[in-house]
Amino acid sequence: PVLVVDFGAQYAQLIARRVREASVYSEIVPHTMSVARMLEKDPAAVILSGGPSSVYEDGAPHLDDEAALFAAGVPVMGICYGFQVMAKALGGTVAKTGLREYGRTQAHVSDAGAALSGSPQTQEVWMSHGDSVHEAPEGFTVLATTEGAPVAAFENLDAQLCGVQWHPEVKHSPLGQAAIENFLYRVAGLQPDWTSENVIDEQVERIRAQVGDKRVICALSGGVDSAVAAAIVQKAVGDQLTCIHVDHGLMRAGEVEQIEKDFVASTGVRLIIRDEKERFLSALAGVSDPETKRKIIGREFIRVFEDSARQVVEEAGAHGEDVEFLVQGTLYPDVVESGGGEGAANIKSHHNVGGLPDDLQFSLVEPLRTLFKDEVRAVGRELGIPEEIVGRQPFPGPGLGIRIIGEVTWERLEILRAADAIAREELTKADLDGDIWQCPVVLLADVRSVGVQGDGRTYGHPIVLRPVSSEDAMTADWSRVPYEVLAHISNRITNEVAEVNRVVLDVTSKPPGTIEWE
Ligand code: XMP
Repeated sequence: PVLVVDFGAQYAQLIARRVREASVYSEIVPHTMSVARMLEKDPAAVILSGGPSSVYEDGAPHLDDEAALFAAGVPVMGICYGFQVMAKALGGTVAKTGLREYGRTQAHVSDAGAALSGSPQTQEVWMSHGDSVHEAPEGFTVLATTEGAPVAAFENLDAQLCGVQWHPEVKHSPLGQAAIENFLYRVAGLQPDWTSENVIDEQVERIRAQVGDKRVICALSGGVDSAVAAAIVQKAVGDQLTCIHVDHGLMRAGEVEQIEKDFVASTGVRLIIRDEKERFLSALAGVSDPETKRKIIGREFIRVFEDSARQVVEEAGAHGEDVEFLVQGTLYPDVVESGGGEGAANIKSHHNVGGLPDDLQFSLVEPLRTLFKDEVRAVGRELGIPEEIVGRQPFPGPGLGIRIIGEVTWERLEILRAADAIAREELTKADLDGDIWQCPVVLLADVRSVGVQGDGRTYGHPIVLRPVSSEDAMTADWSRVPYEVLAHISNRITNEVAEVNRVVLDVTSKPPGTIEWE
């Protein structure tokens, strides 16, 4: 892999994604990992990420043996802080200016070399640094300068080392992806051969080796992750896999049917659907506190899943077989956030299923552990899963239960389902699905307002549209959906959903608002 060394400033994930967008596999490692360990991973190249604004900052992070890394014959690119680390370690001068250069900056390219190959003489770059490199180390060619950084990019092709002071991984550096690709292809000599097809082949092989002839179960939520995970496992071990979908009645219009028909048709997965609508609704009766709702839904989900899993285990047992494995749609960001997660993951520490009882012991099969969300979608498409499932927006486990503000009842669910279906249909028709991360549609069930329709006064409920754009749901901004599209959605909802007489738009970013209302 290409190792992206995380110096702790949230840029490492972005860098890892850009490398993968260049069809080269990458993994993130913490800077606290010893250089010896990193080299044991036999990296094809290493990228040092951004971090604090200066190598002279108090407590600035360092590798335990920088000299060993630069002498190992492994191609290395330094980005921002990583660029300064490289400069300093190899004998260049990093000046303690204490001045900051921040935001959009013009870089003057004096000699594009290999690392900036194809660059015009000036390019716009995104800067965020304090001190700057004043002299490149011996053997390095200076490629670019900015007003605040006399040496803003350099390379030493013989040693396969290069670096840039700016952030090529952010979209504000329009030629950033090109710089990363130049490093990978021209400086490090790597091939763009990491594709969805290879990912699938590799996972299929791993799953077969892991599972052998044992049986596997999977909780299918209807979301992208569990669908793709199940499809890969199905491809690997066929009918040894049984999927369980718990229909809690809190799904959107058409979703259960979609799992039942489209997903099964495209994958051939063996599926058990448990109709548990009444169970969930009676458990939720009279409850309007958001956290209590979430806890109840989580608890009931586990009970039903446990029960179904036990059934599958018993049936398998009756045929003399063992069920030993549980599929989880864990993604790479979860793995990175829980500390790099090497070694065996324990079911109880996983929030997705929430903890199964002790008498049901499973080992985990996690075919998406190395993937980002967009990569999961690409793999899903490659596996032939219909676009309606693969292209789905994230949808929370507690479903519409946390999009009804107030008590959850069947009648209210039907109102929200109708409004949500209209909003989704119109956003798709306006070709906005690619711009919108997700658009929760929320029913303010305890709020009523006066309206007028036809000749009569109405006293109905408001519906909130919450379209957001985001890259990872950690932060988000409200989407600037064109007024005409909003007008159309509003007209249709107020005309077609009798109980709703007002449609409002949520214009709050995250933070301070979360994406969901509860
Ligand atoms: P918030 O509302 O915290 O949501 O900004 C961030 C993202 O997480 C989704 N979400 C959930 N997903 N189970 C899930 O699987 C949950 O309980 C849950 N709550 C929120 C939300 O839709 C958004 O994408």
